Order: sequence, then C-alpha cells, then structure tokens
Amino acid sequence: MRRIIYISTAGEELDISDIKEIVRVAAMFNNENRIGGHLLYNGLNFLQVLEGEKQVLDPLYMRIVHDDRHCAVSTILNEDIEQRCFTNWGLGVSHKYGPAQTDTSLESEIAKYEPEVLADAPGHVRRIFEYFITLKA
Ligand SMILES: Cc1cc2nc3c(=O)[nH]c(=O)nc-3n(C[C@H](O)[C@H](O)[C@H](O)COP(=O)(O)O)c2cc1C
Repeated sequence: MRRIIYISTAGEELDISDIKEIVRVAAMFNNENRIGGHLLYNGLNFLQVLEGEKQVLDPLYMRIVHDDRHCAVSTILNEDIEQRCFTNWGLGVSHKYGPAQTDTSLESEIAKYEPEVLADAPGHVRRIFEYFITLKA
C-alpha cells in the first residue's frame, strides 16, 4: 500500500461549487476503490493525503496532477505503508479558519479543520499537516 501527500495551488477561478464537485466525485471514487484520505483547503492551497493500493493510487494521482482546477502540484511524500492511518473511505474535506480568510461561504460549506482527523497518523504526517495550517492564504 502507498501513501501520497501533495500541496497544490487552487485555480484562480475556483469557487465553492467547484470544490463541492471535486469532493462529490472524489468521495464516490475513493469509497469504491478503498482510497482513504483527507483534503484540506485554506482558500489558496490544497493539502491532500491519499492512501490505498498502488495500482489504484498511482493512476488517480496522475489524474489529480493533471487536473486544471489546480496547479503547481508538489509531492511532499510518496511512501510504502503497512496500513492506512486514514481509515475512512471517501474524502474528508476541511477548511482552516484564519485571519486571512474572508470568504465566509467557505466557512459554512466546508467543515472546519479538526486535528482529530490525524488521530491515527504517524508523526511525520502530523507534522506536514501542522506546517500547512500555519500557512496564510
Ligand atoms: C484538489 C483536488 C483533489 C482531488 N482529489 C480526488 C480524489 O481524492 N479522488 C478522485 O477520484 N478524484 C479527485 N480529484 C479529481 C481528479 O483530478 C479527476 O477529476 C477525477 O479522478 C476524474 O477523472 P477524469 O476527469 O479523468 O474522469 C481531485 C481534484 C482536485 C483538483
């Protein structure tokens, strides 16, 4: 099994309805293909962790990298794992509240980031999330 974490920059035109569409399609695919993970959005950047069988995850990641709803996709981590730490299938999505965040529609439409999503995550994964939430959008 593999775990991939990347950071990307949302497309300039991206709005809440685009994010909801990404999550709708992703939740369905990930659920059917036993991909676990979490997507975090801060109004500018995405951080996503994906875990699953390599033969499903690699082609999915290629589709994500080439998706024009975001750009500058940078792989932070790509490692073999014994077991998943994000055991919920589908795609959790959350949004970091911050002083720079002025788009209140996000706050009502996307769940606030809760560190509990990392409850089973190893230290290095936790640190990547903790770093991301310090970034200002
Ligand atoms: C930030 C971001 C995260 C995404 N995460 C997933 C995901 O976890 N699972 C998924 O199936 N698609 C995800 N997608 C959508 C894929 O890029 C792609 O649209 C989807 O796999 C359908 O592929 P297709 O358009 O070639 O049929 C994501 C897209 C973006 C922009």
